[in-house]
Amino acid sequence: MQTYNRFPVTVIKGKGSYVWDDADNVYLDFTSGIATCNLGHVPDTVKEAVSNQLEQLWHCSNLYHIPSQETLANLLTANSCFDQVFFCNSGAEANEAAIKLIRSYNTTNKNIVTFEKSFHGRTMGTASATGQEKIQKGFEPLLSGFAHLAYNDYESLTFLANNPPAAVMLELVQGEGGVIPAEQAWINELVRICREKGILIAIDEVQTGLGRTGSLFAYEDYGFEPDILTTAKGLGSGFPIGAMLAKSNVAKAFGPGSHASTFGGNPLATTAGVATMKQLTSPSLLENVNRQSDILFSKLTELKEAYPQIKTIRGKGLLVGIELTDGAGEIVKEAINQKLLILTAGANVLRILPPLTVTTTELDKFIDKLQQVLEAVYGSYSK
Ligand SMILES: Cc1ncc(COP(=O)(O)O)c(C=O)c1O
Repeated sequence: MQTYNRFPVTVIKGKGSYVWDDADNVYLDFTSGIATCNLGHVPDTVKEAVSNQLEQLWHCSNLYHIPSQETLANLLTANSCFDQVFFCNSGAEANEAAIKLIRSYNTTNKNIVTFEKSFHGRTMGTASATGQEKIQKGFEPLLSGFAHLAYNDYESLTFLANNPPAAVMLELVQGEGGVIPAEQAWINELVRICREKGILIAIDEVQTGLGRTGSLFAYEDYGFEPDILTTAKGLGSGFPIGAMLAKSNVAKAFGPGSHASTFGGNPLATTAGVATMKQLTSPSLLENVNRQSDILFSKLTELKEAYPQIKTIRGKGLLVGIELTDGAGEIVKEAINQKLLILTAGANVLRILPPLTVTTTELDKFIDKLQQVLEAVYGSYSK
């Protein structure tokens, strides 16, 4: 069905930071499949692990033990503050699981606070959680029990304190909404109120997690421990997988029969997940994210001085937003002509998502291409 407005490119091959089209043109891919191919395209260790698993077993019901699923659950819990994992196949499905866990944990209060400009998925439950009208319009009646409050806003916190819901659910950097990081002081206050009032904190790390923002999970940088976390995108390096992690006191609200997913935690997906997590948890990978992030931000700041159309550069790690006065859509189209793939997010924001394995040479190439694109769209400006 015509649910995507596609660009005129047919991608047939990928390796590292590059993809090839069907006419053998090579593109620098700074979309990473929208924060999914975090280790670059077709990473060798994941390819090898999945190839070996293909010889052994493709699928097995969750009625039986699946070793790679148990290994991945152990890797996720050992590298986070969580105790238990529910596996599924996508970000929306992970957030659905979180909504159900919240509602089975709190038997009397079923309300969940989310935030304006958030994005939590396209299923009925997660579209209802999402704070964007364009995602919800035409699909009413929505699931009840969601209040969407302003993000980074203190009046929202007063509302939260006066009307405690069962949980808050939020992104620490709003991705689809325009690459908007949560302010530390606002999060501190939100966490304080939630702890005081017994409100669960569910963090949607579908886009931020798995090294994207410079730590394995973005919550680590904000100095608190959520009760629930959702992840997906980067967990299988492109193999579909999602997971909902929870602290044991919350996870115990789910028992046998509470929730299920046929493919969730499937042997192929969790094998991809194990190989991915092993690489993501190596210190050199996160070091690279932080090093290249500093370089990228400083190069973009230089570019901002030359182009008055660049309003702000923001984000965290390698989740970077360039807010423009206008023309973001045109720039993405012109970038394709320059053999560069980038995204938009929200209104007039370019979203830059290189793989976490990106090199400084590739960043230089990106800046050269972006400059050519800006010249083509805006004309040249001198300092
Ligand atoms: C923060 C966030 N949550 C949830 C989702 C939905 O994930 P999926 O498309 O895998 O259902 C996305 C997808 O972009 C996302 O960015």
